[in-house]
Amino acid sequence: MQEKFYLTTAIDYVNGAPHIGHAYEKILSDVIIRHKRQLTDKAYMLTGTDEHGVKIQKTAAAKGITPKELCDENFSKFEQAWKELEISYDQIIRTTDEKHKKVVKQIFKKLLENGDIYKHSYTGLYCAGCESFLNPKDLTEDGLCPDHLKKPEEITEENYFFRLSKYKEKIAEYIKSNPDFIQPSIRVNEILNQLENIEDISVSRTKESVQWGIGVPDDITQTIYVWIDALSNYITAIGYDIENPSEQFNELWPANVHVIGKDIIKFHSIYWSAILMSLGLPLAKSIYAHGWITIDQSKMSKSIGNVIAPHDVLEAFNLEKPDAFRYYMASAALTGKDGNYSDDDFKEKVNADLANNIGNLLNRTLNMLVKYFDGEIKPEFVTDKNSKIAVLAQNTKTQIIECFNKFEVAEAANIIVSFADSVNKYVTDNAPWTLAKEEKMQECGSVLYNVLEAMRHIAIMLYPYCPNIAQDILTQLNENIDFKYDNLVWGGLKPNKITEKEKIKPVFLRLDSEFATDKKKG
Ligand code: MSP
Repeated sequence: MQEKFYLTTAIDYVNGAPHIGHAYEKILSDVIIRHKRQLTDKAYMLTGTDEHGVKIQKTAAAKGITPKELCDENFSKFEQAWKELEISYDQIIRTTDEKHKKVVKQIFKKLLENGDIYKHSYTGLYCAGCESFLNPKDLTEDGLCPDHLKKPEEITEENYFFRLSKYKEKIAEYIKSNPDFIQPSIRVNEILNQLENIEDISVSRTKESVQWGIGVPDDITQTIYVWIDALSNYITAIGYDIENPSEQFNELWPANVHVIGKDIIKFHSIYWSAILMSLGLPLAKSIYAHGWITIDQSKMSKSIGNVIAPHDVLEAFNLEKPDAFRYYMASAALTGKDGNYSDDDFKEKVNADLANNIGNLLNRTLNMLVKYFDGEIKPEFVTDKNSKIAVLAQNTKTQIIECFNKFEVAEAANIIVSFADSVNKYVTDNAPWTLAKEEKMQECGSVLYNVLEAMRHIAIMLYPYCPNIAQDILTQLNENIDFKYDNLVWGGLKPNKITEKEKIKPVFLRLDSEFATDKKKG
Protein backbone atom coordinates (compact mmCIF):
# COMPACT_ATOMS: atom_id res chain seq x y z
CA MET A 1 0.00 0.00 0.00
CA GLN A 2 1.36 3.39 -0.95
CA GLU A 3 1.37 5.97 1.81
CA LYS A 4 -0.73 9.08 1.28
CA PHE A 5 0.75 12.53 1.69
CA TYR A 6 -1.55 15.51 2.20
CA LEU A 7 0.08 18.93 2.08
CA THR A 8 -1.63 22.26 2.60
CA THR A 9 -0.35 25.81 2.18
CA ALA A 10 -1.53 28.88 4.01
CA ILE A 11 -4.47 30.50 2.24
CA ASP A 12 -3.55 33.97 1.03
CA TYR A 13 -5.47 37.13 1.77
CA VAL A 14 -6.91 38.49 -1.45
CA ASN A 15 -6.84 42.18 -0.64
CA GLY A 16 -3.99 42.57 -3.11
CA ALA A 17 -2.10 40.72 -5.83
CA PRO A 18 0.36 37.91 -5.05
CA HIS A 19 3.98 38.88 -4.40
CA ILE A 20 7.12 36.81 -4.26
CA GLY A 21 6.64 36.14 -0.53
CA HIS A 22 3.38 34.32 -1.31
CA ALA A 23 5.12 32.71 -4.26
CA TYR A 24 7.95 31.48 -2.06
CA GLU A 25 5.57 29.41 0.05
CA LYS A 26 3.71 27.99 -2.91
CA ILE A 27 6.96 27.07 -4.67
CA LEU A 28 8.36 25.35 -1.56
CA SER A 29 5.10 23.45 -1.21
CA ASP A 30 5.03 22.53 -4.87
CA VAL A 31 8.60 21.25 -4.77
CA ILE A 32 7.72 19.10 -1.75
CA ILE A 33 4.55 17.71 -3.31
CA ARG A 34 6.23 16.99 -6.66
CA HIS A 35 8.95 15.12 -4.77
CA LYS A 36 6.32 13.14 -2.85
CA ARG A 37 4.55 12.28 -6.10
CA GLN A 38 7.82 10.76 -7.27
CA LEU A 39 7.41 8.30 -4.40
CA THR A 40 3.66 7.80 -4.12
CA ASP A 41 0.57 8.18 -6.28
CA LYS A 42 -1.36 9.45 -3.28
CA ALA A 43 0.17 12.88 -2.77
CA TYR A 44 -2.35 15.72 -2.61
CA MET A 45 -1.75 19.45 -2.41
CA LEU A 46 -4.29 22.02 -1.30
CA THR A 47 -3.85 25.75 -1.59
CA GLY A 48 -6.35 28.57 -1.49
CA THR A 49 -7.42 32.07 -0.65
CA ASP A 50 -8.69 33.65 2.55
CA GLU A 51 -11.41 35.98 1.40
CA HIS A 52 -13.33 37.29 4.40
CA GLY A 53 -12.52 40.08 6.79
CA VAL A 54 -12.59 43.73 7.43
CA LYS A 55 -9.67 44.56 5.15
CA ILE A 56 -11.43 43.15 2.10
CA GLN A 57 -14.60 44.95 3.13
CA LYS A 58 -12.73 48.27 3.42
CA THR A 59 -10.64 47.89 0.25
CA ALA A 60 -13.74 46.96 -1.76
CA ALA A 61 -15.68 49.93 -0.34
CA ALA A 62 -12.82 52.28 -1.26
CA LYS A 63 -12.88 50.94 -4.82
CA GLY A 64 -16.66 51.20 -5.06
CA ILE A 65 -17.13 47.47 -5.69
CA THR A 66 -18.60 44.65 -3.64
CA PRO A 67 -16.29 42.53 -1.48
CA LYS A 68 -17.06 39.51 -3.66
CA GLU A 69 -16.11 41.44 -6.79
CA LEU A 70 -12.80 42.36 -5.18
CA CYS A 71 -12.22 38.74 -4.16
CA ASP A 72 -12.99 37.49 -7.67
CA GLU A 73 -10.66 40.03 -9.21
CA ASN A 74 -7.76 39.20 -6.92
CA PHE A 75 -8.40 35.48 -6.77
CA SER A 76 -7.84 35.31 -10.52
CA LYS A 77 -4.48 37.05 -10.06
CA PHE A 78 -3.41 34.35 -7.61
CA GLU A 79 -4.70 31.64 -9.89
CA GLN A 80 -2.84 33.13 -12.83
CA ALA A 81 0.39 33.50 -10.86
CA TRP A 82 0.29 29.88 -9.71
CA LYS A 83 -0.35 28.77 -13.28
CA GLU A 84 2.62 30.74 -14.51
CA LEU A 85 4.83 29.25 -11.79
CA GLU A 86 3.48 25.77 -12.58
CA ILE A 87 2.26 25.19 -9.04
CA SER A 88 0.70 21.76 -9.40
CA TYR A 89 -1.90 21.93 -6.66
CA ASP A 90 -4.71 19.40 -6.73
CA GLN A 91 -7.23 21.84 -5.35
CA ILE A 92 -7.59 25.53 -4.67
CA ILE A 93 -10.18 26.52 -2.09
CA ARG A 94 -11.76 29.92 -1.59
CA THR A 95 -13.29 30.66 1.79
CA THR A 96 -16.23 32.19 -0.07
CA ASP A 97 -17.09 28.76 -1.54
CA GLU A 98 -20.59 27.74 -0.47
CA LYS A 99 -19.47 24.33 0.72
CA HIS A 100 -16.81 25.87 2.94
CA LYS A 101 -19.24 28.37 4.43
CA LYS A 102 -21.77 25.67 5.21
CA VAL A 103 -19.25 23.44 7.00
CA VAL A 104 -17.69 26.34 8.95
CA LYS A 105 -21.16 27.02 10.37
CA GLN A 106 -21.45 23.36 11.35
CA ILE A 107 -18.04 23.51 13.02
CA PHE A 108 -18.96 26.67 14.94
CA LYS A 109 -22.19 25.04 16.10
CA LYS A 110 -20.40 21.91 17.19
CA LEU A 111 -17.87 23.87 19.25
CA LEU A 112 -20.76 25.77 20.84
CA GLU A 113 -22.57 22.52 21.67
CA ASN A 114 -19.37 21.18 23.18
CA GLY A 115 -19.30 24.15 25.54
CA ASP A 116 -16.06 25.39 23.97
CA ILE A 117 -17.63 28.57 22.60
CA TYR A 118 -19.38 31.05 24.90
CA LYS A 119 -20.62 34.65 24.68
CA HIS A 120 -18.74 37.29 26.61
CA SER A 121 -18.37 41.05 26.73
CA TYR A 122 -14.83 42.05 26.15
CA THR A 123 -12.62 45.09 25.98
CA GLY A 124 -9.42 44.44 24.16
CA LEU A 125 -6.64 45.77 22.01
CA TYR A 126 -7.46 45.10 18.41
CA CYS A 127 -4.91 45.16 15.58
CA ALA A 128 -6.53 45.60 12.17
CA GLY A 129 -3.35 44.28 10.49
CA CYS A 130 -3.52 40.97 12.41
CA GLU A 131 -7.32 41.04 12.29
CA SER A 132 -7.25 39.91 15.93
CA PHE A 133 -7.14 41.09 19.50
CA LEU A 134 -3.64 41.21 20.91
CA ASN A 135 -2.45 40.10 24.29
CA PRO A 136 -0.94 43.18 26.03
CA LYS A 137 2.05 41.00 26.94
CA ASP A 138 2.86 40.54 23.25
CA LEU A 139 3.09 44.27 22.45
CA THR A 140 6.38 46.10 21.93
CA GLU A 141 7.75 48.34 24.67
CA ASP A 142 5.97 51.25 22.98
CA GLY A 143 2.66 49.42 23.06
CA LEU A 144 2.68 48.58 19.34
CA CYS A 145 1.72 45.38 17.53
CA PRO A 146 5.05 43.56 17.09
CA ASP A 147 4.22 42.55 13.51
CA HIS A 148 2.62 45.73 12.19
CA LEU A 149 4.28 48.30 14.45
CA LYS A 150 0.95 50.07 14.84
CA LYS A 151 -0.88 51.00 18.02
CA PRO A 152 -3.82 48.61 18.48
CA GLU A 153 -7.29 50.11 18.96
CA GLU A 154 -9.18 49.62 22.24
CA ILE A 155 -12.52 48.01 21.42
CA THR A 156 -15.38 46.80 23.64
CA GLU A 157 -17.73 44.25 22.15
CA GLU A 158 -19.88 41.32 23.05
CA ASN A 159 -18.42 38.41 21.12
CA TYR A 160 -18.29 34.68 21.07
CA PHE A 161 -15.15 33.29 22.66
CA PHE A 162 -13.39 30.01 22.15
CA ARG A 163 -12.14 28.24 25.27
CA LEU A 164 -8.54 27.99 24.14
CA SER A 165 -7.22 27.94 27.71
CA LYS A 166 -8.97 24.61 28.31
CA TYR A 167 -6.66 22.94 25.79
CA LYS A 168 -3.41 24.46 27.00
CA GLU A 169 -2.00 21.41 28.80
CA LYS A 170 -3.22 18.95 26.23
CA ILE A 171 -1.54 20.87 23.41
CA ALA A 172 1.70 21.28 25.36
CA GLU A 173 1.69 17.56 26.01
CA TYR A 174 1.08 16.84 22.33
CA ILE A 175 3.91 19.10 21.23
CA LYS A 176 6.31 17.52 23.70
CA SER A 177 5.45 13.96 22.79
CA ASN A 178 5.47 14.58 19.02
CA PRO A 179 8.88 16.00 18.16
CA ASP A 180 8.00 16.17 14.44
CA PHE A 181 4.88 18.25 15.01
CA ILE A 182 6.50 21.69 14.86
CA GLN A 183 9.27 22.09 12.33
CA PRO A 184 11.92 23.31 12.35
CA SER A 185 12.25 22.29 15.99
CA ILE A 186 13.88 25.60 16.94
CA ARG A 187 10.33 26.98 17.06
CA VAL A 188 9.09 24.55 19.69
CA ASN A 189 10.12 26.57 22.74
CA GLU A 190 8.65 29.75 21.31
CA ILE A 191 5.29 27.98 21.01
CA LEU A 192 5.49 26.37 24.43
CA ASN A 193 6.16 29.80 25.93
CA GLN A 194 3.21 31.33 24.10
CA LEU A 195 1.02 28.49 25.31
CA GLU A 196 1.75 29.30 28.94
CA ASN A 197 0.15 32.72 28.55
CA ILE A 198 -2.65 31.68 26.26
CA GLU A 199 -6.15 33.00 26.95
CA ASP A 200 -9.52 32.35 25.39
CA ILE A 201 -9.91 34.05 22.02
CA SER A 202 -12.66 35.99 20.42
CA VAL A 203 -14.05 34.12 17.41
CA SER A 204 -16.77 36.48 16.26
CA ARG A 205 -17.37 40.19 15.73
CA THR A 206 -20.55 42.20 15.69
CA LYS A 207 -22.29 42.56 12.33
CA GLU A 208 -21.84 46.35 12.61
CA SER A 209 -18.07 46.07 12.66
CA VAL A 210 -17.73 43.18 10.20
CA GLN A 211 -20.31 42.32 7.58
CA TRP A 212 -18.06 40.47 5.20
CA GLY A 213 -17.82 37.01 6.70
CA ILE A 214 -19.74 33.88 7.57
CA GLY A 215 -22.65 34.55 9.90
CA VAL A 216 -22.74 32.89 13.32
CA PRO A 217 -25.42 30.18 13.12
CA ASP A 218 -28.68 31.22 14.77
CA ASP A 219 -27.39 34.68 15.70
CA ILE A 220 -27.88 37.36 13.07
CA THR A 221 -25.94 39.92 15.10
CA GLN A 222 -22.52 38.25 14.78
CA THR A 223 -19.99 37.29 12.10
CA ILE A 224 -17.52 34.42 12.53
CA TYR A 225 -14.11 35.94 12.78
CA VAL A 226 -11.46 35.00 11.49
CA TRP A 227 -9.33 31.98 12.34
CA ILE A 228 -12.13 29.39 12.61
CA ASP A 229 -13.15 30.35 9.09
CA ALA A 230 -9.61 30.36 7.68
CA LEU A 231 -8.11 27.33 9.42
CA SER A 232 -11.11 25.10 8.72
CA ASN A 233 -10.29 25.26 5.01
CA TYR A 234 -7.86 22.39 5.50
CA ILE A 235 -10.74 20.04 6.27
CA THR A 236 -13.71 21.61 4.47
CA ALA A 237 -11.82 21.49 1.16
CA ILE A 238 -11.49 17.72 1.26
CA GLY A 239 -15.06 17.04 2.28
CA TYR A 240 -15.24 17.26 6.06
CA ASP A 241 -18.80 17.36 7.26
CA ILE A 242 -19.87 16.78 10.86
CA GLU A 243 -22.58 14.28 9.92
CA ASN A 244 -21.08 12.72 6.89
CA PRO A 245 -17.39 13.24 6.14
CA SER A 246 -16.40 12.26 2.60
CA GLU A 247 -14.29 9.29 1.63
CA GLN A 248 -11.60 11.70 0.50
CA PHE A 249 -11.54 13.29 3.93
CA ASN A 250 -11.22 9.92 5.64
CA GLU A 251 -8.39 9.04 3.32
CA LEU A 252 -6.41 12.30 3.51
CA TRP A 253 -6.90 13.58 7.03
CA PRO A 254 -4.78 14.19 9.12
CA ALA A 255 -2.68 16.41 6.91
CA ASN A 256 0.96 15.36 6.73
CA VAL A 257 2.08 18.96 6.72
CA HIS A 258 0.70 22.47 6.91
CA VAL A 259 3.28 24.65 5.14
CA ILE A 260 3.00 28.17 6.54
CA GLY A 261 5.03 31.27 7.29
CA LYS A 262 6.64 31.76 10.68
CA ASP A 263 4.24 34.66 11.44
CA ILE A 264 1.21 32.38 11.67
CA ILE A 265 2.67 29.42 13.51
CA LYS A 266 0.82 30.27 16.73
CA PHE A 267 -2.53 30.10 14.97
CA HIS A 268 -1.69 26.73 13.47
CA SER A 269 0.01 25.02 16.38
CA ILE A 270 -2.26 26.36 19.14
CA TYR A 271 -5.60 27.62 17.79
CA TRP A 272 -6.00 24.97 15.13
CA SER A 273 -4.91 22.16 17.43
CA ALA A 274 -7.52 23.20 19.99
CA ILE A 275 -10.27 23.39 17.37
CA LEU A 276 -9.37 19.93 16.10
CA MET A 277 -9.29 18.55 19.63
CA SER A 278 -12.72 19.99 20.29
CA LEU A 279 -14.01 18.41 17.08
CA GLY A 280 -12.46 15.10 18.08
CA LEU A 281 -10.24 15.02 15.01
CA PRO A 282 -6.55 14.05 14.90
CA LEU A 283 -4.02 16.88 14.61
CA ALA A 284 -1.87 17.39 11.53
CA LYS A 285 1.31 15.34 11.60
CA SER A 286 3.47 18.41 11.19
CA ILE A 287 3.49 22.13 10.74
CA TYR A 288 6.40 23.46 8.78
CA ALA A 289 7.06 27.17 9.35
CA HIS A 290 9.21 28.73 6.66
CA GLY A 291 11.06 32.01 7.02
CA TRP A 292 10.30 35.26 5.28
CA ILE A 293 11.64 36.63 2.00
CA THR A 294 13.07 40.11 1.97
CA ILE A 295 13.96 42.17 -1.10
CA ASP A 296 17.53 43.41 -1.23
CA GLN A 297 17.56 42.75 2.53
CA SER A 298 14.48 44.97 3.25
CA LYS A 299 11.02 43.89 4.29
CA MET A 300 8.66 43.95 1.32
CA SER A 301 6.10 46.69 1.74
CA LYS A 302 3.79 48.82 -0.31
CA SER A 303 5.00 51.94 1.45
CA ILE A 304 8.66 51.27 0.56
CA GLY A 305 7.50 50.43 -2.97
CA ASN A 306 9.60 47.29 -3.20
CA VAL A 307 6.85 44.73 -3.66
CA ILE A 308 7.74 42.34 -6.47
CA ALA A 309 5.25 40.09 -8.23
CA PRO A 310 6.54 36.75 -9.49
CA HIS A 311 5.43 37.61 -13.03
CA ASP A 312 7.62 40.72 -13.00
CA VAL A 313 10.74 38.64 -12.42
CA LEU A 314 9.92 36.25 -15.26
CA GLU A 315 9.17 39.15 -17.55
CA ALA A 316 12.23 41.18 -16.62
CA PHE A 317 14.53 38.25 -17.30
CA ASN A 318 12.63 37.22 -20.38
CA LEU A 319 11.89 33.78 -18.99
CA GLU A 320 9.27 31.72 -20.78
CA LYS A 321 9.39 28.98 -18.18
CA PRO A 322 9.40 29.41 -14.40
CA ASP A 323 12.16 26.86 -13.69
CA ALA A 324 14.98 29.29 -12.86
CA PHE A 325 12.80 31.37 -10.58
CA ARG A 326 11.39 28.27 -8.89
CA TYR A 327 14.88 26.93 -8.39
CA TYR A 328 16.16 30.18 -6.96
CA MET A 329 13.24 30.67 -4.59
CA ALA A 330 13.31 27.08 -3.39
CA SER A 331 17.02 27.44 -2.60
CA ALA A 332 16.75 30.97 -1.20
CA ALA A 333 16.69 30.03 2.46
CA LEU A 334 17.80 27.08 4.52
CA THR A 335 15.01 25.40 6.47
CA GLY A 336 13.03 27.88 8.52
CA LYS A 337 15.53 30.70 7.94
CA ASP A 338 14.68 33.97 6.21
CA GLY A 339 15.78 34.40 2.62
CA ASN A 340 16.42 37.30 0.33
CA TYR A 341 15.66 38.09 -3.30
CA SER A 342 18.01 40.23 -5.33
CA ASP A 343 18.42 40.40 -9.12
CA ASP A 344 22.15 39.88 -8.86
CA ASP A 345 21.93 36.82 -6.64
CA PHE A 346 19.22 35.37 -8.83
CA LYS A 347 21.38 35.65 -11.95
CA GLU A 348 24.48 34.43 -10.23
CA LYS A 349 22.83 31.43 -8.64
CA VAL A 350 20.95 30.13 -11.67
CA ASN A 351 23.84 30.81 -14.05
CA ALA A 352 26.23 28.94 -11.77
CA ASP A 353 24.04 25.95 -10.97
CA LEU A 354 21.68 25.48 -13.90
CA ALA A 355 23.77 26.79 -16.82
CA ASN A 356 27.40 26.24 -15.87
CA ASN A 357 27.24 23.24 -13.61
CA ILE A 358 24.35 21.07 -14.79
CA GLY A 359 23.68 22.41 -18.31
CA ASN A 360 27.29 22.46 -19.47
CA LEU A 361 27.98 19.02 -18.08
CA LEU A 362 25.24 17.54 -20.25
CA ASN A 363 26.22 19.57 -23.26
CA ARG A 364 29.90 18.71 -23.19
CA THR A 365 29.21 15.03 -22.62
CA LEU A 366 26.68 14.75 -25.44
CA ASN A 367 29.11 16.52 -27.76
CA MET A 368 31.81 14.00 -26.88
CA LEU A 369 29.37 11.15 -27.45
CA VAL A 370 28.71 12.52 -30.95
CA LYS A 371 32.38 13.15 -31.65
CA TYR A 372 33.66 9.75 -30.53
CA PHE A 373 30.67 7.45 -30.98
CA ASP A 374 28.34 9.14 -33.43
CA GLY A 375 25.90 9.86 -30.56
CA GLU A 376 25.48 6.21 -29.68
CA ILE A 377 25.65 4.47 -26.32
CA LYS A 378 27.22 1.16 -27.32
CA PRO A 379 26.52 -2.18 -25.63
CA GLU A 380 30.22 -2.58 -24.87
CA PHE A 381 30.29 0.49 -22.60
CA VAL A 382 30.43 -0.95 -19.13
CA THR A 383 29.23 0.41 -15.88
CA ASP A 384 29.37 -0.97 -12.40
CA LYS A 385 26.70 -0.29 -9.83
CA ASN A 386 29.36 -0.54 -7.15
CA SER A 387 31.56 2.10 -8.78
CA LYS A 388 32.21 5.29 -6.86
CA ILE A 389 29.95 7.38 -9.05
CA ALA A 390 27.08 4.87 -8.92
CA VAL A 391 27.32 4.65 -5.14
CA LEU A 392 27.43 8.42 -4.92
CA ALA A 393 24.25 8.63 -7.01
CA GLN A 394 22.49 6.19 -4.68
CA ASN A 395 23.66 8.06 -1.58
CA THR A 396 22.50 11.32 -3.10
CA LYS A 397 19.05 9.85 -3.64
CA THR A 398 18.87 8.66 -0.02
CA GLN A 399 20.03 12.02 1.30
CA ILE A 400 17.44 13.86 -0.75
CA ILE A 401 14.62 11.70 0.57
CA GLU A 402 15.86 12.36 4.11
CA CYS A 403 16.01 16.10 3.47
CA PHE A 404 12.47 16.18 2.15
CA ASN A 405 11.25 14.23 5.18
CA LYS A 406 12.44 17.23 7.20
CA PHE A 407 11.21 19.78 4.60
CA GLU A 408 14.80 20.76 3.86
CA VAL A 409 14.07 21.92 0.35
CA ALA A 410 17.07 24.22 -0.10
CA GLU A 411 19.39 21.68 1.48
CA ALA A 412 18.17 19.02 -0.98
CA ALA A 413 18.88 21.39 -3.89
CA ASN A 414 22.41 21.89 -2.58
CA ILE A 415 22.90 18.14 -2.49
CA ILE A 416 21.87 17.81 -6.15
CA VAL A 417 24.29 20.57 -7.11
CA SER A 418 27.09 19.03 -5.15
CA PHE A 419 26.42 15.70 -6.90
CA ALA A 420 26.71 17.54 -10.24
CA ASP A 421 29.98 19.06 -8.97
CA SER A 422 31.29 15.58 -8.24
CA VAL A 423 30.27 14.39 -11.70
CA ASN A 424 32.07 17.37 -13.25
CA LYS A 425 35.14 16.41 -11.23
CA TYR A 426 34.76 12.80 -12.41
CA VAL A 427 34.92 14.04 -16.02
CA THR A 428 38.05 16.10 -15.32
CA ASP A 429 39.73 13.25 -13.42
CA ASN A 430 38.96 10.67 -16.08
CA ALA A 431 39.55 12.94 -19.08
CA PRO A 432 37.55 11.06 -21.73
CA TRP A 433 39.21 13.23 -24.44
CA THR A 434 42.62 11.79 -23.42
CA LEU A 435 41.22 8.27 -23.41
CA ALA A 436 39.90 8.89 -26.94
CA LYS A 437 43.26 10.23 -28.08
CA GLU A 438 44.90 7.11 -26.66
CA GLU A 439 42.27 5.07 -28.50
CA LYS A 440 41.00 3.51 -25.28
CA MET A 441 37.52 3.67 -26.72
CA GLN A 442 35.76 1.27 -24.41
CA GLU A 443 37.07 3.12 -21.36
CA CYS A 444 36.20 6.45 -22.92
CA GLY A 445 32.67 5.22 -23.68
CA SER A 446 32.26 3.90 -20.17
CA VAL A 447 33.18 7.27 -18.68
CA LEU A 448 30.67 9.00 -20.95
CA TYR A 449 28.04 6.44 -20.02
CA ASN A 450 28.56 7.09 -16.32
CA VAL A 451 28.22 10.81 -16.80
CA LEU A 452 25.05 10.51 -18.87
CA GLU A 453 23.58 8.03 -16.41
CA ALA A 454 24.39 10.52 -13.64
CA MET A 455 22.62 13.19 -15.72
CA ARG A 456 19.56 10.97 -15.93
CA HIS A 457 19.63 10.78 -12.13
CA ILE A 458 20.08 14.55 -11.88
CA ALA A 459 17.08 15.13 -14.15
CA ILE A 460 14.86 13.04 -11.89
CA MET A 461 16.16 14.66 -8.72
CA LEU A 462 15.93 18.17 -10.17
CA TYR A 463 12.40 17.64 -11.47
CA PRO A 464 10.50 19.02 -8.44
CA TYR A 465 12.37 22.31 -8.74
CA CYS A 466 12.72 22.60 -12.51
CA PRO A 467 10.13 20.41 -14.23
CA ASN A 468 10.83 21.77 -17.72
CA ILE A 469 14.61 21.62 -17.53
CA ALA A 470 14.36 18.11 -16.11
CA GLN A 471 12.19 17.07 -19.06
CA ASP A 472 14.61 18.70 -21.51
CA ILE A 473 17.50 16.76 -19.99
CA LEU A 474 15.62 13.49 -20.43
CA THR A 475 14.67 14.46 -23.98
CA GLN A 476 18.31 15.21 -24.79
CA LEU A 477 19.16 11.76 -23.42
CA ASN A 478 16.38 10.30 -25.58
CA GLU A 479 14.84 8.87 -22.42
CA ASN A 480 11.16 8.21 -22.36
CA ILE A 481 10.61 7.64 -18.66
CA ASP A 482 8.60 9.40 -15.98
CA PHE A 483 10.10 11.08 -12.93
CA LYS A 484 9.30 8.38 -10.38
CA TYR A 485 12.05 7.54 -7.93
CA ASP A 486 11.73 3.89 -9.03
CA ASN A 487 13.70 5.00 -12.08
CA LEU A 488 16.63 6.02 -9.90
CA VAL A 489 18.38 2.69 -10.32
CA TRP A 490 21.91 2.81 -11.66
CA GLY A 491 22.26 1.42 -15.18
CA GLY A 492 18.84 2.52 -16.40
CA LEU A 493 20.22 4.23 -19.51
CA LYS A 494 20.19 1.59 -22.27
CA PRO A 495 22.47 1.18 -25.32
CA ASN A 496 20.95 3.25 -28.09
CA LYS A 497 21.71 5.99 -30.57
CA ILE A 498 20.62 8.89 -28.42
CA THR A 499 21.62 12.03 -30.23
CA GLU A 500 23.26 13.80 -33.16
CA LYS A 501 25.10 17.08 -33.47
CA GLU A 502 22.06 19.18 -34.49
CA LYS A 503 19.92 17.88 -31.65
CA ILE A 504 22.21 19.00 -28.85
CA LYS A 505 20.81 22.12 -27.22
CA PRO A 506 21.57 23.85 -23.95
CA VAL A 507 18.88 23.05 -21.39
CA PHE A 508 19.33 26.42 -19.71
CA LEU A 509 20.65 29.65 -21.19
CA ARG A 510 22.64 31.96 -18.94
CA LEU A 511 20.66 35.01 -17.84
CA ASP A 512 21.93 38.11 -19.45
CA SER A 513 22.44 40.89 -16.93
CA GLU A 514 20.92 43.51 -19.25
CA PHE A 515 17.50 42.01 -18.74
CA ALA A 516 17.27 43.22 -15.17
CA THR A 517 15.34 46.45 -15.23
CA ASP A 518 13.55 48.69 -12.83
CA LYS A 519 10.31 47.34 -14.19
CA LYS A 520 10.05 44.98 -11.26
CA LYS A 521 9.72 47.68 -8.67
CA GLY A 522 5.92 47.79 -8.51
N1 MSP B 1 -4.74 34.37 5.43
C1 MSP B 1 -3.70 34.15 6.37
C2 MSP B 1 -3.35 32.69 6.46
C3 MSP B 1 -4.47 31.79 6.85
S1 MSP B 1 -4.00 30.13 6.81
C4 MSP B 1 -5.31 29.29 7.38
C5 MSP B 1 -2.44 34.91 5.90
N2 MSP B 1 -2.44 35.35 4.63
S2 MSP B 1 -1.23 36.17 3.98
O1 MSP B 1 -1.63 36.44 2.63
O2 MSP B 1 -0.87 37.29 4.79
O3 MSP B 1 -0.01 35.22 3.97
C6 MSP B 1 -0.10 33.97 3.33
C7 MSP B 1 1.19 33.18 3.52
O4 MSP B 1 2.24 33.89 2.86
C8 MSP B 1 1.59 33.06 5.00
O5 MSP B 1 2.07 31.78 5.29
C9 MSP B 1 2.70 34.10 5.13
O6 MSP B 1 3.64 33.75 6.11
C10 MSP B 1 3.31 34.03 3.74
N3 MSP B 1 4.04 35.25 3.42
C11 MSP B 1 3.55 36.52 3.26
N4 MSP B 1 4.60 37.36 3.02
C12 MSP B 1 5.76 36.66 3.01
C13 MSP B 1 7.10 36.96 2.75
N5 MSP B 1 7.53 38.18 2.51
N6 MSP B 1 7.98 35.92 2.72
C14 MSP B 1 7.58 34.62 2.89
N7 MSP B 1 6.32 34.32 3.15
C15 MSP B 1 5.41 35.32 3.34
O7 MSP B 1 -1.52 35.03 6.70
